[in-house]
Amino acid sequence: MRQLLVVGNWKMNGSRASINSLLDGLLSGPAVAGTEVAVCPTYVHLPQVLALCAASAMTVGAQDCSHMQSGAYTGEVAPGMLAELGCRWVILGHSERRQYHGESDALVAAKVAVAIEAGLQPIVCVGETREQREAGEAQRVVSAQLKGALQGQASLNALVVAYEPVWAIGTGLTATPEQAQEMHECIRACLESIDGADAQATRLLYGGSVKADNAAQLFAQPDIDGALVGGAALQAADFKAIIAAAAA
Ligand code: PGA
Repeated sequence: MRQLLVVGNWKMNGSRASINSLLDGLLSGPAVAGTEVAVCPTYVHLPQVLALCAASAMTVGAQDCSHMQSGAYTGEVAPGMLAELGCRWVILGHSERRQYHGESDALVAAKVAVAIEAGLQPIVCVGETREQREAGEAQRVVSAQLKGALQGQASLNALVVAYEPVWAIGTGLTATPEQAQEMHECIRACLESIDGADAQATRLLYGGSVKADNAAQLFAQPDIDGALVGGAALQAADFKAIIAAAAA
């Protein structure tokens, strides 16, 4: 039985003040039993968020990390530094990194390797563009991204995969529960073929315009084990409603 996991990807948003009030809202009231919850702020907000979450069940992750453990890589942050701070997760291969920073599957694979070595749990993002879906290429593209990032990795038992169709991110368009389930089934089948991956134990999150009103239907699908939430994670009430849908 896979425990549901709901992760907030705050992207490049927030100030010290807004994060104080967001976490105030998120941590007030009883924690929802049975669902794991995590938030991923920017690097600079990690110490603040880790301190505020320390006494709660909410865990914390980063949105990216370097592909190296140390050295002359100006502007980069090593996964070991994130682990030392207290981060549990790191989002890798998000489509915005692939699109705006030219990240390739090979670079994502290098990041996955060093993140695991540092003791972080990678949340590896995959997803097709609208053109690729319309051309009937969605499953081929996603399987190739997955294999590119994971093949040859030493240990994948802490892995989480997030399926985020690029056309659904921040657009208000969500994959239907059936479309998402179909792809999650394909991802699980692909994981079966990758050495070191435990396909049945790996949690597969859906991401792309997840909201309170579509979350329950998505979570009802047998291969959807939670969500990676962008926009709706920035408002405490919206994010809590998604967490509640996971627990329902
Ligand atoms: P969204 O973003 O929920 O705003 O679509 C999801 C993501 O990019 O992780």
